[in-house]
Amino acid sequence: MKLAARMSRIGTESAFEVLAKARALEQQGRDIIHLEIGQPDFPTPAHIVDAGKRALDEGWTGYGPTAGFPEFRDAIASYVSRTRGIRVSAENVVVVPGGKPVIFFVMMAVLEAGDEVIYPNPGFPIYESVIEFLGATPVPMPLVERHGFSFDLDTFASKLTDRTRMVILNSPANPTGGMIPRDDLARMAALLRGRDVVVLSDEIYSRICYGGPPASIAPFDGMLEKTCILDGFSKTYSMTGWRLGYGVMPRPLAQAVELLMVNSNSCTASFTQRAGLAALTGPQEPVDRMVEEFRRRRDVMVEGLNSIPGFRCTVPDGAFYAFPNVRGTGIAAGTLADLLLSEAGVACLSGTAFGAYGEGYVRFSYANSLDHITEALARIRRLADRWVGAAVQV
Ligand SMILES: Cc1ncc(COP(=O)(O)O)c(C=O)c1O
Repeated sequence: MKLAARMSRIGTESAFEVLAKARALEQQGRDIIHLEIGQPDFPTPAHIVDAGKRALDEGWTGYGPTAGFPEFRDAIASYVSRTRGIRVSAENVVVVPGGKPVIFFVMMAVLEAGDEVIYPNPGFPIYESVIEFLGATPVPMPLVERHGFSFDLDTFASKLTDRTRMVILNSPANPTGGMIPRDDLARMAALLRGRDVVVLSDEIYSRICYGGPPASIAPFDGMLEKTCILDGFSKTYSMTGWRLGYGVMPRPLAQAVELLMVNSNSCTASFTQRAGLAALTGPQEPVDRMVEEFRRRRDVMVEGLNSIPGFRCTVPDGAFYAFPNVRGTGIAAGTLADLLLSEAGVACLSGTAFGAYGEGYVRFSYANSLDHITEALARIRRLADRWVGAAVQV
């Protein structure tokens, strides 16, 4: 079958491919520790599940309004206003099935072929994939390890041109766990203020951070009218399979995204939205407990990685990923990730799965139990004989 030419330009998210590879090894009887998957290993909190069940019993099983139920959009608007220090209302909110559709729809609504998009690299692979798919021009921004994996602002300024149409930010970030400092956001806002650009601020990890809430670019002067905040329920409330997310954006963009929704999904599942309402308005202790547990695991993970020859890991401030520099092993990141899976039974992702600037790094998700993390570290340490002494730099 002949597919459209644009299909040759779309990428993928290799976490799902590694997961399939790891599962195939498990079928052969191998014991695999899964540190490749980007989803919390906690169940959805019980009061949210109950709200979902109740909604099904009450008949929330039909189509709903395309942009989401008004009561739910209201709750999202007040949550986002409160947490970001901005004033938005329900008409700025579009509810969609997960965080990913916000990326797809906003880019689809804004980008023309040839438009330049500045985005983090290493970064969530879907950004680059959709940029290429739409025929726009990718302008990767290398993240700087010694700057907590934030941008270098001079480099950022030098990448802005008259063709720049979109800037994608992701803080806290996948795959690095880095956060963009408030002062850096202020300087970026100053650089963007007079420009006709859209900022897609992917804040899906906004609640998973270890030292005070992350800053958003949205409240800076002149930014609200150019910014779409992406957030959702997958990570914060451990609801990846419910498929529930939202974008908060200027009204004309919200109307465009709503049109794309009506042409693709009609609406987001109704009972799922009722569960989301319970998540936002109900007790938040389960989130706090999850983040505390992630913090414990992060500390064990980072300390353990730093004790392995050839690995050097900075302490991530957010999300649930460790992103060690593995150049000291002398092994290319992709080869090392394959080796860890096949020889140590530890599934992780090569930094290059997140873009070319991910070479020299691997990503471990610590959304797994402390026992498994400790065992994974011991297995990697045992394998380190393979590279100790073979100091070929890559
Ligand atoms: C940075 C980032 N943005 C968006 C998403 C998508 O989230 P969802 O599963 O809600 O579509 C993810 C998921 O891994 C992510 O890491």
